[in-house]
Amino acid sequence: NNYVVIMAGGVGSRFWPVSRTNFPKQFIDILGTGKTLIQQTYDRFKDICPSENIFFVTNENYREIIKEQLPDVIDDNILGEPVMRNTAPCIAYACHKISKINSDACIVVAPSDHLILQEEVFKNNIRESLELAAKEDVLITLGIVPSRPDTGYGYIQYNNVVVENSFYKVKTFTEKPDLELAKTFIASGDFLWNAGIFVWNMNTILAAFNKYLPEMNEVFSEGKVYYNSAREIDFIKTAYTRCKNISIDYGVMEKAENVYVRPSDFGWSDLGTWASVYDVKKDKDYVGNVVIDSNKVMMYDSANCIVRTPSEKLVILQGLDGYIVVEEDDVLMICKKSEEQEVKQIVADVKQKF
Ligand code: GDD
Ligand code: MG
Repeated sequence: NNYVVIMAGGVGSRFWPVSRTNFPKQFIDILGTGKTLIQQTYDRFKDICPSENIFFVTNENYREIIKEQLPDVIDDNILGEPVMRNTAPCIAYACHKISKINSDACIVVAPSDHLILQEEVFKNNIRESLELAAKEDVLITLGIVPSRPDTGYGYIQYNNVVVENSFYKVKTFTEKPDLELAKTFIASGDFLWNAGIFVWNMNTILAAFNKYLPEMNEVFSEGKVYYNSAREIDFIKTAYTRCKNISIDYGVMEKAENVYVRPSDFGWSDLGTWASVYDVKKDKDYVGNVVIDSNKVMMYDSANCIVRTPSEKLVILQGLDGYIVVEEDDVLMICKKSEEQEVKQIVADVKQKF
């Protein structure tokens, strides 16, 4: 009865120039471990349910990349989107499609681009969540103890009453607060970060869509007659033009009242930026430099840098402290690690200029 939906349609713009619109972060071995992030994600879930129950939702343009990186995934399990509309339509489509196969399904929805170091702890948390979802009318999310007032996350405030095992009732869910608010959340101590990993049963999630995003729910519910037929692709093309662009966090999680959280600690990072990759890399040299995938790097009087350049290229750093040095194809970027939030703007400028 258990199903997994892996969301793989984002563009990962902060990892430019390695992550590009035509080849985003989830398809890259960003840590240099030998496996891309989506391959790692798929491997994690193969122990949770049979692989025919694992679905991918992605832009139609990335279908071939998934097939290449995950050759045992069948075409029917890759749900192609004609345009990016964020995660709410992605989840609505997948859930309605799965409901045609199994109307009693319990579903895990997960991003394709995160790092999880303690896989066994993670799997246990997911199994417990699935057990709870099978019997309760609740939307479950996994929560991470926050370490800084990051404005890129959802913040979960929870009631100190245990509902069951390690699950708590959520009081408020605030997606991407501004910095001031994030600071007060962190200071108060009763907030968790939303890991973006959700567990629920079919009735509960479809009821939530019906309540909070009724038009979108209607669109994908109409599609039921077309799913798993030759007409599905054409239906989806028009369906997406009828959907607004909204994430599940803003569209459903902030509004829903039956949300539970499971505080979790499995060595999680959403690998949002180069600095976060720098932070999780344990194999730093004695002055804190990290070199990913590059064989020929010489460093003089340089510390706290992260370097990811083509392995055949000789790269020499002299006198650099705290820099990101990344090269991919026709782009070389050297950027101060502490200023990496500039990358989003840089990418926008590049797109305009070239
Ligand atoms: N299929 C599909 N279509 N997938 C998408 C789309 C889309 O239009 N947009 C994003 N995704 C995928 C991304 O590839 C990623 O795997 C996942 O959905 C989450 O999207 P992000 O764009 O990375 O979301 P976020 O990081 O801003 O915020 C979410 O994750 C945070 C934790 O990393 C939220 O759930 C936050 O509340 C959460 O804290
Ligand atoms: Mg993300």
